[in-house]
Amino acid sequence: MTAGGLPRVIVVTGTDTDVGKTVVTAAVCATLRAAGLRVTAYKPTQTGVGPLDTGDMAEVSRLTGVPTHEGVRLLAPMAPRPAAALEGATLPTLEDHLTTIEALSSDHDQVVVEGAGGLLVELTEARATLADLSGRARDCGVLVVARSALGTLNHTMLTREALWRRGIHELGVVLGSWPSDPTVIETSNRDYLAELPEGLLGAIPTGAPRLDPSAFRAAAAGWLPGLARRSAGAQRRETP
Ligand SMILES: Nc1ncnc2c1ncn2[C@@H]1O[C@H](COP(=O)(O)OP(=O)(O)OP(=O)(O)O)[C@@H](O)[C@H]1O
Ligand SMILES: [Mg+2]
Repeated sequence: MTAGGLPRVIVVTGTDTDVGKTVVTAAVCATLRAAGLRVTAYKPTQTGVGPLDTGDMAEVSRLTGVPTHEGVRLLAPMAPRPAAALEGATLPTLEDHLTTIEALSSDHDQVVVEGAGGLLVELTEARATLADLSGRARDCGVLVVARSALGTLNHTMLTREALWRRGIHELGVVLGSWPSDPTVIETSNRDYLAELPEGLLGAIPTGAPRLDPSAFRAAAAGWLPGLARRSAGAQRRETP
């Protein structure tokens, strides 16, 4: 744990696919980097992209300038195990991912890991999930990305309960896309989440990924005040 109380490995999961994990991963990286920390991002399994396509890590690099890494990429836009089966690919094992994260951690202050889909999606042939990875990675905490709309409270609490039951350190919730004119339901959801212990770390305004990267980097810490507070107290390690 860094001096500010942030775990060295921050896993970004979501209540679903397409909730904004990639954009939140970028905002987390930009926030940590703005605090002077050496940051890298890792996507263990990237599905739905061809060999030359732009994946989530390329988007994180574009928005933030931090170095990024992928474990494996698969063509089919579906969960990693069936996607790998379709093309006869071999998935990295849980040990492979842990070794990669440990190696990245040895020369960065923070490693930000973006999951595929939600917390219990299987990443390996042996059916290890992102929850298993989070439970095994040294000095790790999990951030949950959620939608703002109706239905999000149930999905968010299901994900949080899955973390608690496994004894995994939860850092809090981030709303992936917060509209400029929220409905009463969205405001009520935000307020509910903010009052929970390990509640709301922040919200990304709608349109954030379309910002110029320099504007994105300058604004990110303001979107994630709960994380910025903790990263401000975090320190670079002398010998990474
Ligand atoms: N704050 C936002 N404002 C506008 N568009 C957004 C915002 N956040 C995410 N999006 C868009 O919504 C889509 C899904 O977001 P994103 O790719 O971050 O989701 P994800 O949870 O990472 O999905 P996956 O499970 O495929 O990794 C993308 O097209 C992204 O640009
Ligand atoms: Mg993504």
